Amino acid sequence: MKDSNTIDWAALRKDFPILDQQVHGKPLVYFDNAATSQKPRAVIDALVRYYEHDNANVHRGIHELSNRATAGYEAARARAAKFINAKSSDEIVFTRGTTEGINLVAATWGAKNLKAGDVILLTEMEHHSNLVPWQLLAQKTGAKIVYLPVTGDEGILDLSKLDSLLTKQVKIFSMVHISNSLGTVNPVADLCARARKLGIVTLVDGAQSAGHLPVDVRAIGCDFFAFSGHKICGPTGIGVLWGRQELLNAMPPYQGGGEMILSVEYQKTEFKPAPHRFEAGTPDISGPIGLHAAMDYLDTIGRENIWKHDQELAQYAYEKLAALKNIRLFGPKPVVAQASRLCDSGLQLTGKMPVSPGRAGLVSFLLKDVHAHDVVTLADQAGVALRGGHHCTQPLMHKLGVESTARASFYFYNTRAEVDRFVEVVKEIQKFFGQ
Ligand SMILES: Cc1ncc(COP(=O)(O)O)c(C=O)c1O
Repeated sequence: MKDSNTIDWAALRKDFPILDQQVHGKPLVYFDNAATSQKPRAVIDALVRYYEHDNANVHRGIHELSNRATAGYEAARARAAKFINAKSSDEIVFTRGTTEGINLVAATWGAKNLKAGDVILLTEMEHHSNLVPWQLLAQKTGAKIVYLPVTGDEGILDLSKLDSLLTKQVKIFSMVHISNSLGTVNPVADLCARARKLGIVTLVDGAQSAGHLPVDVRAIGCDFFAFSGHKICGPTGIGVLWGRQELLNAMPPYQGGGEMILSVEYQKTEFKPAPHRFEAGTPDISGPIGLHAAMDYLDTIGRENIWKHDQELAQYAYEKLAALKNIRLFGPKPVVAQASRLCDSGLQLTGKMPVSPGRAGLVSFLLKDVHAHDVVTLADQAGVALRGGHHCTQPLMHKLGVESTARASFYFYNTRAEVDRFVEVVKEIQKFFGQ
């Protein structure tokens, strides 16, 4: 890992060929990283190399190419285990992404362990991926969903309600690590510890955290952790579900087919242990290989450094936006805070950090009397890629009394100069609407 003071962040942009382009005649400012990140040359090269040299099906062949493909696929599993400090690579299930990881847990662990009257505890800031699978499960089992509330526009969990919600009926507490709509960083280690004391299983949705700060699933103390490759510089279509080995091995399979069996008879099948029992059929092979390259790439920069960079950029953007009139900002206010508080995210830093550990690298906002889609459309004309909409958190939007927000989300290849450009564009949009 590099020292943050010696990193030339602007130079890292050269690793991302896509960033060097004009959109509508203006230099591209890509601020839609919470939706998906861009891919460095190292990842693109790993994919090309795999298809040019090693492509074959995994696990089934005895020929050289199949052995190489299998070795690459399993090496990626071991790398993913290291990336989140899992005990063993047998705890790493490859999925299509966070959504599939959560669906897998709901459909297998949930179907086996939940019954009518049980409670699934979520928070009010969940992405639809950590909400709809539980609704489907609740409909099937008769379990009930209960929500830990979010307080107002600052978007912080109301922890004073937690004790009364952690009842005997709660069987699983599934929570987002970093909110994609608000930028809130939740104290997941604390939440998991409180649930664990009562024997409640926990799942952490790490879609927005895994590539942005060091994640240590053992320090967090959760039972399941899910993330997506495409949000951490890897390819689309690949993700990771981590689960404690004893839980994974006690869960029924997700899908049936080849690769996940020990033996099959006409009337019955014996399944492999985890993780293979959850990977039926020919898997995405190039995905893990690209993801491996992405994890190496990120950890060469260092996720502590990325976290610090993203937070600084978010604070800079937040303060510049907050200085405008007729703007409503969502999510926690950045404040100077002790980095040691980040330990509950699995991040072990000491000393002063310049910004709040409670806000990640994104800013959601609304301009008075301007629809978020208009903001995004006009920003696009100026070369600035934002996202506008409910961000797959419709219930949260309704709770905040809005239909949508505009969101700028940052990654390590973004710069202050881009934030300046973005804020200029926001001001131009306000002028356009006569504000
Ligand atoms: C917090 C959060 N959870 C889950 C997801 C779903 O991720 P994916 O679509 O990669 O499965 C997202 C995607 O934006 C997200 O931001």
